[in-house]
Amino acid sequence: MKNGEHNMPVPRHIAIIMDGNGRWAKKRGLPRTAGHAAGAEAFRRTANYCRSLGVEYLTVYAFSTENWKRSQEEVSGIMKLLGKYLQEALADMEKNHVRFKFFGDLSRLSPELQKLCMEAEKTSSAYHDVQVNFCLNYGGRDEIVKAAQQAAMDVQKGMIQPQDITEVLFSNYLYSKDVPDPELIIRPSGEMRTSNFLLWQSAYSEFVFMDVLWPDFQPEHLDEAIREYGRRNRRFGGV
Ligand code: FPP
Repeated sequence: MKNGEHNMPVPRHIAIIMDGNGRWAKKRGLPRTAGHAAGAEAFRRTANYCRSLGVEYLTVYAFSTENWKRSQEEVSGIMKLLGKYLQEALADMEKNHVRFKFFGDLSRLSPELQKLCMEAEKTSSAYHDVQVNFCLNYGGRDEIVKAAQQAAMDVQKGMIQPQDITEVLFSNYLYSKDVPDPELIIRPSGEMRTSNFLLWQSAYSEFVFMDVLWPDFQPEHLDEAIREYGRRNRRFGGV
């Protein structure tokens, strides 16, 4: 935990469910894709602000395993925005010093987008101002099931014994291996559920639900969430 500009204890790892893009667009009579474009801007703002506060990890839910149920137009609109963002990020890599990681099953993304993700991960691996974890085709249950399959395969190969599987060892099979659990998870848009986000990692996270729609999210909202987090009494099951 660090002390930010406003003398607030700043979490090392913040995770955000970027929700409310569709409603934001509907309120303005715009197509849903316009809401996602405004959401991508909100992400840029927030990532920059997190970097200036000294947040070490920012994890964002950009596309879930369930989001494929949306119209083809909306899905390809979100994919296009992600591709555009990653191309720009690759061009600005030396300026921004952001390290990128991707959580999720990328095999269902287009070959072009998969390539951009791999390139972004590889080119940015030495940077350490802030690590952005993009959750793409990500689901918390899917992540846990895939980890269980991998662990079972390692048992089958004789690399580990069933009794070796502890919480710590199991964590190493998750996308988030090497990343500390998020202290703070923010969900804007007024919805109060986890929607299959970071199910394992959020065991002791503090949740802050906010009424603002994601495209309207400003640095002041992040300050407000961090202040709320600072007021929580974290006991981790103790007294
Ligand atoms: C949830 O809002 C948002 C998504 C499913 C997509 C999030 C994607 C982005 C913010 C753009 C991705 C690009 C970058 C560069 C980060 P919703 O559509 O469910 O909103 P609603 O609940 O109001 O309908």
